[in-house]
Amino acid sequence: METIRLTTNESDIRRAGEIIRSGGLVAFPTETVYGLGADALNAGAVSSVYRAKGRPSDNPMIVHIAYVAALGDLIKGGLDSLGGDARRLIGELWPGPLTLIFPKADAVPDVTTGGLDTVAVRMPSNATARALIREAERPVAAPSANLSGRPSPTTAMDVLEDMDGRIDAVIMGGMCDVGIESTVLDMTGEVPVILRPGMLSKEYLSDILGKDVLYDASLLEIPGETADPAMGTADTLFRPKSPGMKYKHYSPKADVIVIRGSSERFRSRAKELGLEAMKDGRRAAVIDYGDDPDKAAHRFFADLRELDRQGYDLILIRSMEQKGKGFGVMNRILKSAGYDVE
Ligand code: TXA
Ligand code: MG
Repeated sequence: METIRLTTNESDIRRAGEIIRSGGLVAFPTETVYGLGADALNAGAVSSVYRAKGRPSDNPMIVHIAYVAALGDLIKGGLDSLGGDARRLIGELWPGPLTLIFPKADAVPDVTTGGLDTVAVRMPSNATARALIREAERPVAAPSANLSGRPSPTTAMDVLEDMDGRIDAVIMGGMCDVGIESTVLDMTGEVPVILRPGMLSKEYLSDILGKDVLYDASLLEIPGETADPAMGTADTLFRPKSPGMKYKHYSPKADVIVIRGSSERFRSRAKELGLEAMKDGRRAAVIDYGDDPDKAAHRFFADLRELDRQGYDLILIRSMEQKGKGFGVMNRILKSAGYDVE
């Protein structure tokens, strides 16, 4: 199929909305990463998203909405069922990079939720994303617009690299502001649990709610390391984990090694490893975002793809503190490295 390039002007967004209404797939920018959108209530359309991405069908989609009222139709018991915590988070942080999980309404097809009885919902802040959802006149299911296992796309060019010829259209917006995917928060229990960390951090969410927010235990199981119990996990509660977190993720073609320590240690170690690689005829690239998690989030996926295009064999990246926003960024960095840390 030919993938149509659309602009962000009104008539193109109207066309994108029509494509989604008729069961097609449109990639579009959000403030986090590009999404691959389909009508969330059309099981056939959602199935074709799994096919286009090469994604396992037990990995559920996030459903995107443009108004709070639309949430009522997606969750069991409607808007009246929302507890105080959910109301507060929605009031303070939507639209924005926060996905909330609730028990699902019957109207949401099983394919959309990967067979789970819960649904993940997010209201993006990006103006193009919101206009598209309004034009589609229905909730839009959208995973990140990459082939399964590849880094999430943060530019239209990165979307085309994976999806050209596999989907109906791409809205050619600019580079995504945030750069990593939304924080996914399970709201189905007494205590909200972070299933996927993002730039809205555990600490920040706890401050807004005036109570503890927990990490799903799997987020602290870093191979070869013992979790710090002080981080606070939900491992005593029974919950399904975020299915997406178990799959291989964010892998560039190059090998990635994370190096801990000061800038000085990083520089000298990166130099040693880079020289070793050169002796084997391999080219190494070096990334140090300093202690700036916003910059790291904004650039990281784009940098992985750019270094792949330039043909690097090895990427040496400096680690940052796993606190606050740094926890979300390091989650992506460590996964891209297959937890190869030294
Ligand atoms: O920022 C984002 O969230 C982007 C943009 C496009 O909005 N979307 C995104 O979607 O990252 P995706 O499909 O790549 O990741 C969705 C994550 C997966 O880890 C999935 O397993 C989890 O959310 N998820 C979705 N529904 C869930 C549910 N009902 N229960 C637990 N986890 C769920
Ligand atoms: Mg994804």
